[in-house]
Amino acid sequence: MAHLLELAHARAQRDEPAGASVDAGGALELPFADFMDAALYAPGLGYYSAGQHKFGASGDFVTAPELTPLFGRTLAHGLRDAIDQGVLELGAGSGALAASILEARPGLIYRILELSPELEARQRDRLAPAPVEWLRTLPERIDGVVIANEVLDAIPCDVVRHAEGRYWQAVVALENGRLMRELRWRPIEQSEQAELAELARTRLPAIEGYTSEVNPRAEALVRSVCERLGEAVAVFIDYGFPRREYYHPDRSAGTLACHRRHQVHFDPLAAPGLEDITAHIDFTAMAEAAVDAGAEVVCYASQGRALLALGLVDQIAAAGQDALDARAHAQMLSAVHRLTAPSEMGELFKVLIVGRGAVARILAERLASVDQSHRL
Ligand SMILES: C[S@@+](CC[C@H](N)C(=O)[O-])C[C@H]1O[C@@H](n2cnc3c(N)ncnc32)[C@H](O)[C@@H]1O
Repeated sequence: MAHLLELAHARAQRDEPAGASVDAGGALELPFADFMDAALYAPGLGYYSAGQHKFGASGDFVTAPELTPLFGRTLAHGLRDAIDQGVLELGAGSGALAASILEARPGLIYRILELSPELEARQRDRLAPAPVEWLRTLPERIDGVVIANEVLDAIPCDVVRHAEGRYWQAVVALENGRLMRELRWRPIEQSEQAELAELARTRLPAIEGYTSEVNPRAEALVRSVCERLGEAVAVFIDYGFPRREYYHPDRSAGTLACHRRHQVHFDPLAAPGLEDITAHIDFTAMAEAAVDAGAEVVCYASQGRALLALGLVDQIAAAGQDALDARAHAQMLSAVHRLTAPSEMGELFKVLIVGRGAVARILAERLASVDQSHRL
């Protein structure tokens, strides 16, 4: 942990992130998003860049593609009109989703943009010899399908608060390279990030002590993807809400959470680098970013409804014909329950699909019966 903080410290001094500052006592104060960036992605030390196991039953959390290949098969089937032009997956984790999509549609052009070199190496091991290409940056033009499952929630967010008639930004203090164990609060008008002040002012309710997150970096990623879409759809799957629910007066402590060995807690300063730090998604913000970049909202639906409309039942039936033994069959049905039941991932997780061109229009028609984009 000390190494991670030294690195965050050195990076902050070298790269001078917008908003880093030194207080009167000589402590370096990093905006929360810069701290989260180091805690998750500092080379060799951050949670996603070091050797933690992370995914699956023996890791810290389970994602939908880790639960069952039916998730990837359903996407491969339901997005069939666009997918033959190729897939670009953002943040492919262990490679589970790519493996199940490539199994369903062998020979597909499949590209991955992955931030973590350690995870990229794992994906290469798992997916060989499939002809997958790993990219360093987004291509100029994207046709086909972009998929990002649980990526937006792993993008460093800012933590903001309304108190004493003004807005504040959470900062993490390092004194002589040592992490101070409490978040500190800096008046947001002192932030060099003018956009942040605007986001806090326009999104947070003016309730004393109300604390939540905004994620301009995730919005910027959605914008960059959508600017590049040709004949294509982009599918963002994650936990979150429309803005009205995200900043509901009752959700006064925000959504920031840490995951380790299937336990959740709410102190991001407890073990940086050793556990996942994540926040829910304001899907209204993501849809607005997409529309700003010239894309249209194709569909916004709960994961349960979206998977059913994309053909999950057909995929269950097809898997049932594979002569599964009773145990494998029960496991499959249990995974389907987790993906779709409202008390599990079915309702909290949402699917936002945006896009351009004929493929977007065809998919909008296919998903019209489950679309709830009016709630955004
Ligand atoms: C919670 S994991 C999800 C992994 C996988 N999609 C799954 O569902 O199992 C988040 C993933 O997003 C990657 N990631 C985060 N920010 C990214 C970005 N800006 N571009 C590409 N990948 C990113 C992380 O390295 C990691 O692979």
